[in-house]
Amino acid sequence: MIRQNNQHAIERDFRLVVDDCPVLQRFVHGKRLVYLDNAAMTQMPRPVMEAMQAFYTRFNANVHRGIHRLSEEATDAYEDARGKVARFLGAPQPESVIFTRNATESLNLVAYSWARENLQGGDEILLSVMEHHSNLVPWQQMADEAGAKLVYVGLTSHGMLDMDELAQKLTSRVKLVAITHMSNVLGAIVPVAEIVNLAHAVGAIVAVDGAQSAAHLPVNVAAMGADFFACSGYKMLGPTGIGVLYGRMELLEAMRPFNYGGSMIAHVELEKSTWAEVPQKFEGGTPNIGGAIGMAAAADYLARLGMQRVQAHDQKLLAYAFPRLQEIPGLTIYGPPPEQRGGIIAFTLKDIHPHDIATILDKEGVASRAGHHCAEPLHHYLGIPASARVSFYIYNREHDIDALVSALLVARKVFGA
Ligand SMILES: Cc1ncc(COP(=O)(O)O)c(C=O)c1O
Repeated sequence: MIRQNNQHAIERDFRLVVDDCPVLQRFVHGKRLVYLDNAAMTQMPRPVMEAMQAFYTRFNANVHRGIHRLSEEATDAYEDARGKVARFLGAPQPESVIFTRNATESLNLVAYSWARENLQGGDEILLSVMEHHSNLVPWQQMADEAGAKLVYVGLTSHGMLDMDELAQKLTSRVKLVAITHMSNVLGAIVPVAEIVNLAHAVGAIVAVDGAQSAAHLPVNVAAMGADFFACSGYKMLGPTGIGVLYGRMELLEAMRPFNYGGSMIAHVELEKSTWAEVPQKFEGGTPNIGGAIGMAAAADYLARLGMQRVQAHDQKLLAYAFPRLQEIPGLTIYGPPPEQRGGIIAFTLKDIHPHDIATILDKEGVASRAGHHCAEPLHHYLGIPASARVSFYIYNREHDIDALVSALLVARKVFGA
């Protein structure tokens, strides 16, 4: 009985999220909006908007500089935001969390400040074939500069990272493993803690792309042992223009800055300068204060729901969606079974172009995505030029999947597939 009551309370909490997000009340093309493009952007609940509004309406001032009341309040809120995001990610101390613009900038920070200083000719960078371009292109550049080599790990027949291949390729030549925690196409969840153990045993460090996982899975960077972990605010109910890089403190302290200028210095003379302590050393210029406050409010919102429950909600929707989608003749789902993924499903439907699928879905009120989803090499690996993708979040319900299935049946009819 207690369990059942708990279940009701959980369902009520998740139902309330829909009321919290004004965008979800919209109609498009005369239909109720069914928002299934969450891997690209999540919708913002009112408490996140209100936290940012409090900054802009009550203490809109620059941080770490002014000796006046508003600046002190802004600085307190900004540093409090760092603490909240650190807690959300399980970082051992707030200072190990650096605010950036997005996950891409976080990964570039690792590239420019760590890889550029530490990679040499003949070194290897180990990646998977399912990386987002943001966790691939920076490493191509670093490999080019250093004369290092990129080594790729493929997938099993079930669409998971091939851990046997990874163990085989993880030799002492590898200095950096750059790996996604959850694929933005396949939804596949990667056992990053296991990879960290293997990598550390050969002296390599691990940069984890957590752009998707931070929103969908319980994350604890300390327990995972990650050396770096990158994520973005807007994928986890927060605003755009803000992301974080978590880094292990010893590494961050030894690294050079990435962005030179105001706010990141200790002293400046005409000929030379010294750097501020971590994290300020990496936060050159005025930061996105309102964004950081918004991202922290989003982390709080998710923490209140509980990330285990967020993951369970994904699981419930995947368990419903898989058989419903598989009822559609000619529909192929890519990636692992529901239990091994987060709430993302990429698929093709016969030879209908994914852009045509997305266009029909849009007319039916269903927001989805089509293309290579910034993972062009993965699509080559799968032997397809593009895919359609739907991605769920905490406000989605089974009836959204019913609407998706009906819209896909319309697409089949329109294209005679
Ligand atoms: C797995 C993954 N990594 C990295 C990124 C890049 O994130 P951002 O655009 O916030 O830099 C994304 C965005 O879609 C992603 O899904």
